[in-house]
This record gives sequence, C-alpha cells and structure tokens, in this order.
Amino acid sequence: MLKFAQRLLPPRVQRALDQLGETLSVITEMRDPRVMASLGPSALRGLVFKRGKQGEPTLTPARHSAYFDWSYPGDQAEMAELYARAKRGQWDGDDLPWHLGVDFENADKSMFPMDFLDWELGEELGIRLTEAERVRLITDMGTWSLSQFLHGEQGALLAAAQVTEAVQFMDGKLYGATQVVDEARHVEVFARYLETKAQKLYQINDNLFTIIDALMADSRWDIKFLGMQIMVEGLALGAFGTMYNQTKEPLLKELLKNVIQDEARHVHYGVVALREHITKQLDERERREREDWAFEVAMLMRNRFLAYEVYDEWFSHRLSRASWRQFIGRSPGMEGFRTLMFSRLVPNLREIGLLSDRIRPHWERVGLLRFANGRAADQVTAEEVLAGEVPAAAA
Ligand SMILES: [Fe+2]
Ligand SMILES: [Fe+2]
Repeated sequence: MLKFAQRLLPPRVQRALDQLGETLSVITEMRDPRVMASLGPSALRGLVFKRGKQGEPTLTPARHSAYFDWSYPGDQAEMAELYARAKRGQWDGDDLPWHLGVDFENADKSMFPMDFLDWELGEELGIRLTEAERVRLITDMGTWSLSQFLHGEQGALLAAAQVTEAVQFMDGKLYGATQVVDEARHVEVFARYLETKAQKLYQINDNLFTIIDALMADSRWDIKFLGMQIMVEGLALGAFGTMYNQTKEPLLKELLKNVIQDEARHVHYGVVALREHITKQLDERERREREDWAFEVAMLMRNRFLAYEVYDEWFSHRLSRASWRQFIGRSPGMEGFRTLMFSRLVPNLREIGLLSDRIRPHWERVGLLRFANGRAADQVTAEEVLAGEVPAAAA
C-alpha cells in the first residue's frame, strides 16, 4: 500500500524517499547499541549529510593513542618476514606502460566485458539503450569502480599511517611503514589512470565514505585494523580481482596485477595482528562487539555498492532507484565481485576469532556461511589471489 502511494508522488520525491528509506534501514539494521554508537555518527555524516560529496576537503577527527616502545623488541616474527617481503616487492608506478593508448569502445580493449551487466533484465526493467550507449554505460561502470578504488586507496593511505602509529608491535610498525608507501603508490597509479586515460572521476560512494569515516574516527587501534586491514582490504581484493580477471585493457590489467600483489600482503598483516589480539587479549564482551561490528560493516559492503553515482548521471530522470538496484544488484559482474569478496573475507574473520557459534546463524541467514571453511589470507599466496579463484577449504 505504502509502495503504491509512493508511486503516485513526483519522481524527484520518490527518489528522495527511497534514499531516506535506505539510510534508515542501514541504521535500524544495527542490533548492537555499541556498534550503533561506533557506526551511527559516520552513517549520518556519509549517508545523510553526504560529506564526501560536498566538493571540499573533509576533516575527520582522530583520537587514537600513538604507541612508542623505546626498547625496540623483535616481537613478531611473521610481521618481520612480511616487512622483508614488502621491501623486496616494491615497484615504481612510473614503470607501468603508460605510453599505451586506450580504446574502451573496442571490445578487445574494454574495461569490462559487455556481459558484466544483464541487458535482458535491463530491458525488462525499462532500460532501453542502443549498442553504443551500452558500451558507454559499461565504460562508466568501469570508471566508477576505479574512482571508488582511488577513494578507498586514499582511506587506506591515511588509515595505514594511523595504524602504524597505534599498533603495539615494533615489527608491525616497520611493516606498516611499507604499507603506507604501497598505498601512496596505489593512490598515484589510480589517480593517474583516471586523469589521463579514463578522463573522468566519480565522487565517493556514501557507504564507502561511512566505513572509512568510522574507522578513522574510532580511537581503538584494533577497530581501525579490523575495518581497514580485514574489511576494506577484503573488499578491495574482491573488487580488484574481479576487474583484473575481466578487463581486456592491457595497461589496466598490468596496473591491477601489481596492486593486487601488494594488497595480498596487507590482508595477511591484518590477520596476523588481529589473531593474537582478539583471541588472547580481549575479553568476551569486547570480542562480541568486534564480531557484531564486522557483520554490520559486511552488510554495508554487501548490498550497497550499487553505483548510484552512475544512476544519477544516466537514469535519475527516467528510472526508479528500485529498478536500478535490481539491475546492478543482480548483474553477473557484481555477483562475481560479491562471491570473490566474501570467499576471502569470511575465512579471515574465522581466523581472527570473529566467527563464533553466536554469530554464525546471522551469516547463514544472509547466505554467506558457506565460505566459513575457506583458507585465510595467511595461507593464500599472491599467485592464488591473482588467479581470482574462490579459495578452496583448508584440507
Ligand atoms: Fe591499496
Ligand atoms: Fe592495502
């Protein structure tokens, strides 16, 4: 009845109501009041005030403690090994084949294949486009994805710097410094690609802003770690892996290959640091809060990266947000991305002690518990990550 009444309203009002409904559903889905206290203000800044879309820099207050240890202990062998590997694995963004021209409209050099979207479903929903328009929409979806990668990389750069200050392992600080450089290089190459090749930049997605804002403002170092090294890095690996496997654009493929190898190290670091902390140092109440926080953030990531920024540009005057949501949400490309992302994320949560019997039914309810027995990041090689396969369960 309500839906019917809504359809009688002018399209602009319908869109605003739909957006408000989505925002409220994000906030009301948070069952744990402590999770609400942590994510709620960021959801307001991101989803309601759209702070990332104001065309001006954002100032996010940070309240964590910097942790010094004047005795310089060699305190974590696995992190020391990651530090050594990271030093050997450095590369220069200038060495990528930037001289190659791009031709996104050529099917052999497109950012995404045409079947990334389900055109038949689109027709049913009222999306009628010429062949040339379809090619342009696919290119815009690719550019939108790359723009979100860039915004995420800026978040990763600043978060990696915070985490390097706050982490309580000396070997973790040395390793963390390499990650700061890695993330700077990722910002450099994605920004350069968007500026010189795609020649377009989409604004930050509101949900991505919310997650980054929440983990930057939280004073607890392990929440920053959980948010950045496990959740956002997991999201990035799923997204980069999907694009790496599907793109036919040679420069982009090379760029993503290099970035993915760095990101595999970053998630590995997150698993090593948090496994020890969560399973041995937190009490049960604190552990439960992290478990709920991770689940809520996963839900923010699952259903909400729906390219509304592309919708606003292409369809806001002729299609409902609900139809767009179906078109993108059920597209084969986005399905593949979600599968890859969660096949990597869920085993990592298990490994760090955030997949107890208490939370498993919630993961089951949203259809993601099937990934619970996969191998965690410390057991997956960079080559396997590049192969883009859904990792098999541990033997
Ligand atoms: Fe990165
Ligand atoms: Fe990273």
